[in-house]
Amino acid sequence: VPTFSQADLKAFTSKVFLAYGVPADVAQVVADSLVVAELKGHSSHGLIRIIDYVDWLGRGWINPMGKLKILKDQGVILAVEGDYQFGQVIGRQAVELALEKVREHGVSVLTIRRTAHLGRMGEWMEMATQRGYLGFGFTNTHGAGVMVAPFGGRERRLSANPLVAGAPVAGGADMIMDIATCMVAEGKVKVAKEKGTKLPVGSMVNGRGEPSIEPADYFGDPPGALLPFGGHKGYALSMFCEVFAGILSGGACSGTQSDRIANGFFAVFVDPKAFCTGDYDGQFSNLIQWVKSSKPMQGFTEILLVGEPEGREHEKRQREGIPVPEPIWKKICQIAEQRQVAPPRLR
Ligand SMILES: NC(=O)c1ccc[n+]([C@@H]2O[C@H](COP(=O)([O-])OP(=O)(O)OC[C@H]3O[C@@H](n4cnc5c(N)ncnc54)[C@H](O)[C@@H]3O)[C@@H](O)[C@H]2O)c1
Repeated sequence: VPTFSQADLKAFTSKVFLAYGVPADVAQVVADSLVVAELKGHSSHGLIRIIDYVDWLGRGWINPMGKLKILKDQGVILAVEGDYQFGQVIGRQAVELALEKVREHGVSVLTIRRTAHLGRMGEWMEMATQRGYLGFGFTNTHGAGVMVAPFGGRERRLSANPLVAGAPVAGGADMIMDIATCMVAEGKVKVAKEKGTKLPVGSMVNGRGEPSIEPADYFGDPPGALLPFGGHKGYALSMFCEVFAGILSGGACSGTQSDRIANGFFAVFVDPKAFCTGDYDGQFSNLIQWVKSSKPMQGFTEILLVGEPEGREHEKRQREGIPVPEPIWKKICQIAEQRQVAPPRLR
């Protein structure tokens, strides 16, 4: 597997976007976010996105000149619109402004609408925890990316609608939850189809409404649908993503005709010091020790804190480099070569 250093991949990715007409400062921010997603082990939101993003730039779905527009800035409330600029840029700017409000008020509530894909949503929670704040958020896709059946349904009605939350941990890696509300992501269905492997039981229903583990059923006629994780529970959470991120942002919900992939986002950020927590660090560290003290079940050797798998992957990939699967790397290089961008050297 071709393996690269993060510095080389960032420089390369940035040059590719630059070659496709993206301003240098924007290209740099997007490249950084995609490579950090790779470092965290979330390759589904890493370099593979170069392929989509270059395509979306060509279709005019992403506006690389877009400017963040403030719709409402009142007390703890900040509502913004992204002008379909890259979500990596809009997300960073909007969360930065929302965190400024936390400094002032102890809490803030942010909505974003009409931004291009916000990518790895955990990134926005990490910005908060790095400052000692907590946060949680709901995301939707403005009516695009509909691939998930509601609980009990067999037809696609909802998007992957991810949930995020973050809490800072004194002297350790922060607790970051970053989960789609479907059991497996669509990207994983595509990979399974290419590799000829099956999907986990309970992740999909075929077009006839029967449970299926065959990736081809998803693309069948009539098409299959992904299922929410945890049955009615994931479905419930996904519906709240639609209401908070779709309606409150003033964006749109699934079921609305959408001309492109875009994200709606709703987040709350909190300074623990603004509440009656007493001893946040001490209590949280006791909780973590208590949870981790559980004896592991069969097939496990230890209990990990939420966010710990990404933290470990980050350390490993910083040390050993970032592997990019051959077929994906080939496609990316083709895109780069079309605009005379040379690939980086292997590590
Ligand atoms: N922008 C969008 O529209 C959009 C849509 C869908 C998904 N996404 C992104 O896709 C990425 C992948 O989502 P996913 O649902 O496939 O993630 P996933 O199923 O890999 O779950 C990741 C989460 O589970 C935790 N976790 C995993 N294994 C664990 C263990 N053994 N112990 C404790 N915690 C553990 C991780 O720390 C992390 O918080 C996310 O970054 C998400 O933001 C984005």
